[in-house]
Amino acid sequence: MRFVKRCGSAVPVKSEAIMFDFKGKVAVVTGSSRGIGRATAEMFARFGARVVVSSRTAEACEDTAKTIRDQGGEALVIPCHIGKKEDLQRLVDKTMSAWGRIDSLICNAAINPVYGPMSDLTDDAFDKIMSTNVRSTLQLCNMVLPGMAERGGGTVVILSSIAGIRGNTVIGAYGISKAAEAALARNLAVEWGPHHIRVNALAPGLVKTDFARALWEDPERLERAEKQTPLRRIGVPDDIAGTALFLASDASAYITGQTIVADGGETIS
Ligand SMILES: NC(=O)c1ccc[n+]([C@@H]2O[C@H](COP(=O)([O-])OP(=O)(O)OC[C@H]3O[C@@H](n4cnc5c(N)ncnc54)[C@H](OP(=O)(O)O)[C@@H]3O)[C@@H](O)[C@H]2O)c1
Repeated sequence: MRFVKRCGSAVPVKSEAIMFDFKGKVAVVTGSSRGIGRATAEMFARFGARVVVSSRTAEACEDTAKTIRDQGGEALVIPCHIGKKEDLQRLVDKTMSAWGRIDSLICNAAINPVYGPMSDLTDDAFDKIMSTNVRSTLQLCNMVLPGMAERGGGTVVILSSIAGIRGNTVIGAYGISKAAEAALARNLAVEWGPHHIRVNALAPGLVKTDFARALWEDPERLERAEKQTPLRRIGVPDDIAGTALFLASDASAYITGQTIVADGGETIS
């Protein structure tokens, strides 16, 4: 490894290629049967990581795993409903018994079961959104991070949303859960930074996936969204996967506890 002197200290310098080299590393991506999670799993595999592909059913994940294997990568399918703590534990245990390590954890799966004003929201719906999106992420991190620390460190990327940054008339509770996930990333970053674990939140704008279908399928809505976005397009899953890869790579070695917005500029215009 090359070192340079900066402010009197020797700082390790890695070549650009090594910064994005995930060979020998293991990445776990929840909700990777489709959408952003799938693109992320495939991208990590392309950069050398062994990838755990996971969603509620194994069958739904097989296609992602096949794509990875067809491209010469390694994939392991482990089903996990993130709302069930025993499933989360099984995800971690099976990964550890197969590959013995988790270097990057991508907490991607989330739900948004209600649409409408918060005055109509039932207590049950609120609890379900918060427990599935927020509590499960904390539970999973608590299962993974101690081992990651023992092995010398790692990275966590938590999928938040610009709905957690701005107010919204129809997906308010979801937005609250996404703001909480960004706060969770900040807090975990503080607690685990001394153990060489970086934790960041990634907040996409509108991305063309099933999750947001109602927002982009209607041509008028799509046109409005594109006009409001400086880059004049909505996102595609690879836009977000690339940012997740960056946040898990050594290229972002000094970034932790942040919420990185990937929205084509929507929130700054
Ligand atoms: N799309 C957007 O515009 C957008 C914008 C901002 C943030 N996000 C965030 O990005 C993340 C991914 O969203 P997406 O758009 O890629 O969604 P998507 O295309 O609907 O994919 C969701 C993934 O999560 C899995 N999943 C759903 N419920 C699950 C559960 N309870 N347990 C485990 N896996 C579950 C689904 O697989 P199965 O059905 O096979 O279980 C699927 O693989 C979410 O955190 C979302 O909040 C999305």
